[in-house]
Amino acid sequence: MFHRQAGTTRRPPGPGAVILIGFMGAGKSSVGGALARQMGWTFEDLDERIERRNGRKVQEIFRDLGEAEFRRAEHEALKELLKGLREGAERVIALGGGAFVQKRNARLIEAGGVPTVFLDADVDELWRRCRSQAEQQGTERPLLGGLEGFRELYEKRRPHYMKASWRQETGGKNIEGIAEELVQALGLRRREGRRGEKQ
Ligand code: S3P
Repeated sequence: MFHRQAGTTRRPPGPGAVILIGFMGAGKSSVGGALARQMGWTFEDLDERIERRNGRKVQEIFRDLGEAEFRRAEHEALKELLKGLREGAERVIALGGGAFVQKRNARLIEAGGVPTVFLDADVDELWRRCRSQAEQQGTERPLLGGLEGFRELYEKRRPHYMKASWRQETGGKNIEGIAEELVQALGLRRREGRRGEKQ
């Protein structure tokens, strides 16, 4: 968890990047987009980087090459992304639901010192969000499956997600409000004159 030092006169600089993790339907992309706008930072979705690097959609990688190959591509894309962060980009990053569960990815992130936020909600709520995204926006998730399998996978992954620097409950909250809570909780600083700065 994040703890600000007590008794310091000058607040330490906040982190220059944040990684959002959590299960499918947690709101990583929508909260990430809102947080980036509020901060005037860039938003990046790891799945989109994977698609650019591989010239295929995530569901095509799963379908044509299998999950193991997707995980390899995901790891390579994450390594590249973290390297870019060392070069100073201010970024909010959303990972796919399985990325942080892979030990080698969690280790890389930890070594990079980037704070992680676990966006959480009740599993039935996560399921409802994924179903409605599938029906209304045609969002395809290769691992969505049925409710029982979804629930099992969530339970299996949750202990990994709980290793994040911060856990943020999202149930019953609006996206902008969640992003504002994260700005406060993580002590993020807007740069002067940046887009999204409150006047
Ligand atoms: C996955 C979640 C997806 C995507 C891929 C695998 C997972 O991302 O990375 O389909 O293992 O849970 P979202 O969490 O954004 O749906």
